[in-house]
Amino acid sequence: MHAVITGISGYLPNYVMTNEEISQLVDTTDEWIMTRIGVKERRILKKEEGSGVTYMAVKAVENLMEKTGLDPKTVDAVLFATSTPDYIMPNAAALTAYKTGMTNAFCFDISAACSGFIYALEVANGFIVSGKYRKVMILAGDVLTVITNYNDRNTCPIFGDGCGAALVEGSTENVGIIDSIMRTDGNSLQHLNMYAGGSVHPASHETVEKNQHTIWQDGKVVFKHAVSSMSDACVELMERNHLTHEDIHWVVPHQANLRIIDAVAHRMGLTTEKVMVNIDKYANTSAGTIPLCLWDWEPRLHKGDNLILTAFGAGFTWGATYLKWGYDPK
Ligand code: UT7
Repeated sequence: MHAVITGISGYLPNYVMTNEEISQLVDTTDEWIMTRIGVKERRILKKEEGSGVTYMAVKAVENLMEKTGLDPKTVDAVLFATSTPDYIMPNAAALTAYKTGMTNAFCFDISAACSGFIYALEVANGFIVSGKYRKVMILAGDVLTVITNYNDRNTCPIFGDGCGAALVEGSTENVGIIDSIMRTDGNSLQHLNMYAGGSVHPASHETVEKNQHTIWQDGKVVFKHAVSSMSDACVELMERNHLTHEDIHWVVPHQANLRIIDAVAHRMGLTTEKVMVNIDKYANTSAGTIPLCLWDWEPRLHKGDNLILTAFGAGFTWGATYLKWGYDPK
């Protein structure tokens, strides 16, 4: 039994924030952001449209149900990969399941930052292969703009909002998840974090004044770790599955920086035509980037296509998943 993605969807907020708008907030230019990061614009969830990551997740699930005819009552588990849940508790998976009628599912969130989607896929794979569960809904996305410091030019051009949804089911055909490598290095707090709001530094006047409820990173350190970790995981996965660059139809990298994506593809021996890239339109939506790429590319994917998904994020968390796509374009 293999776990296979049988439907993919997503949601992106309406408001488009351009580099021109960013350059009115901090000392930067469209040219710098395009050449150093590869982002042209990003989507922002404005209060007037809706609030919370579950606002986007509900839209994504509704779209998925419409596309696939899924009966929400048949979903056994809902996993929500996010760093920006609506509340610390209850979890975002529970809220989304309630609002979309997935009322027979058990629900929990996965905290693995930008690697959240591939971690959730790994968990879903285990549930499906165990034979106990038939349908697992993965939600993955973030409202990163609520934890972005719009006075910090090192971080604010990078992030955007968006959410994906993927239905995972079992199949006895030769499709679905074949292999994966998941890793974590917990000795990285000092390089990438949101300092306050947890149980060590709960919210106070001081944490708010010091802007400690926003993402902070040492960009250069994170960049180097992202390139080497994702490349190593992908190359190891290729080697142990006897895959050459010719066997791979698509690599689906986390969209953090176009230079990181290019370096990883280069290490894998892949040309850019085989790399899914939409960072220019949506920027880094953290856990949302991989499902949003799959959703964008769905019309071009064919049953049996070899895909390698790879991500890196705070933790540090990272990994790579080798899967065969499960269906032809409809
Ligand atoms: O998804 C979570 C994982 N996160 C990542 O993977 C992010 C990884 N890191 C990166 O993508 C890059 O390190 C950044 C995009 C964050 C920064 O790019 P960089 O090429 O590493 O720039 P840098 O930090 O080395 O800064 C180079 C220069 C500095 O100026 P000086 O000190 O050389 O005069 C910065 O102050 O660029 C300056 N700079 C900017 N200039 C214009 C930094 N941000 C900006 C900006 N506009 N927005």
